[in-house]
Amino acid sequence: MAPAFTPSQSRTEQPVTMRAIAQTRYGGPDVLSLQTVPKPSPAADQVLVRVYATSVHAGDWHLMRGTPWLVRLIYGGLFTPKIQILGSNMTGRVAAVGTAVTEFQPGDAVYGDLSESGFGGFAEYVCVPAASLALKPVNLGFEAAATVPVSALAALQGLQTVGQVQPGQRVLINGAAGGVGSFALQIAAALGAEVAGVCNAAKVEQVRSHGYDRIFASGEAAIADGPYDLILDTAAYRSVFDWLPALTPSGTYVLVGGSTARFFQVMLLGSAIAKWTGHPIKGLVSEPNPEDLQRLTDLVEAGQVVPWVDRTYPLAETPAAIRALEARQICGKVAIAVHNDPAETTPLT
Ligand SMILES: NC(=O)c1ccc[n+]([C@@H]2O[C@H](COP(=O)([O-])OP(=O)(O)OC[C@H]3O[C@@H](n4cnc5c(N)ncnc54)[C@H](OP(=O)(O)O)[C@@H]3O)[C@@H](O)[C@H]2O)c1
Repeated sequence: MAPAFTPSQSRTEQPVTMRAIAQTRYGGPDVLSLQTVPKPSPAADQVLVRVYATSVHAGDWHLMRGTPWLVRLIYGGLFTPKIQILGSNMTGRVAAVGTAVTEFQPGDAVYGDLSESGFGGFAEYVCVPAASLALKPVNLGFEAAATVPVSALAALQGLQTVGQVQPGQRVLINGAAGGVGSFALQIAAALGAEVAGVCNAAKVEQVRSHGYDRIFASGEAAIADGPYDLILDTAAYRSVFDWLPALTPSGTYVLVGGSTARFFQVMLLGSAIAKWTGHPIKGLVSEPNPEDLQRLTDLVEAGQVVPWVDRTYPLAETPAAIRALEARQICGKVAIAVHNDPAETTPLT
């Protein structure tokens, strides 16, 4: 994991300062403030990106609050946050490259998942390992592109790598209006599956308006519509046992996220449940990798995946963006505009 401010050699950049949303204690969105901090310089294998846009992901607010406590153990900082600048998604232009980087050059429009490399997307600049980046889809503006990496990678890996979805299979996405769920609906359809989804009753019509007919306002209605070959649970707030009657005899259940209790239920009992019932019961731990990021770029450029950007905030209003996400006001994703790109014909703000 790369620290946010690693002094080291770079071909072109000299450290100065930048604006960033930072925190020095765990808590609600009020612990976040706009600060002036040192601008990072890339290590040999890193790329310095001038950030044009970022987005808010559930993982960002879990780390902001330090809940569940497991995140403090995983990312360090038992009592105070070790990671002070959050932001697991970002897109922008390469400002400088480390001496060992050959894949990118200054000016390239890139996007990436920073969740395994120290976060830092809520800032004007960030240093990212080249392996966590891909070229930004050419048909997306920066705000929309910033919403893709973490959520769409989780959706792709949950469906394909873990769920091993096949064309023609019936797939249910629980949490279809969420960040991961909104991409999962589209990616499952792109992979040839027949897709259905469950979301909050208030968002059903909005999700249907994206072209999905089989969207249910309750788990019970979705279960009655089964059986499914694969259930991707991005909002696991009910027991895995509730979903088993909705699976085909060899159907698979994949937990992506939800409550801590449900996470431990699947992690600790998943293989035993699988043995008793014959249903593979799995948990996703998504990982950024350039191949899957490139696959997403291809799906977006083919028009098969289109981010649902519910709204956009300026960097200084990141706390409001997180409040909206926590309050379940978002359908799809919420973007954060950081810099305008002078190369874009339509400015971000
Ligand atoms: N395993 C991994 O590698 C991995 C990767 C990425 C994300 N995740 C996790 O996956 C989960 C979803 O991520 P996301 O980015 O999609 O989050 P998100 O955009 O904030 O969406 C949250 C989803 O959870 C639903 N939800 C929230 N509270 C609920 C409740 N009390 N009862 C029922 N449903 C509830 C929401 O439903 P409505 O939209 O209907 O309100 C929405 O579908 C998070 O827990 C995240 O940490 C895990």
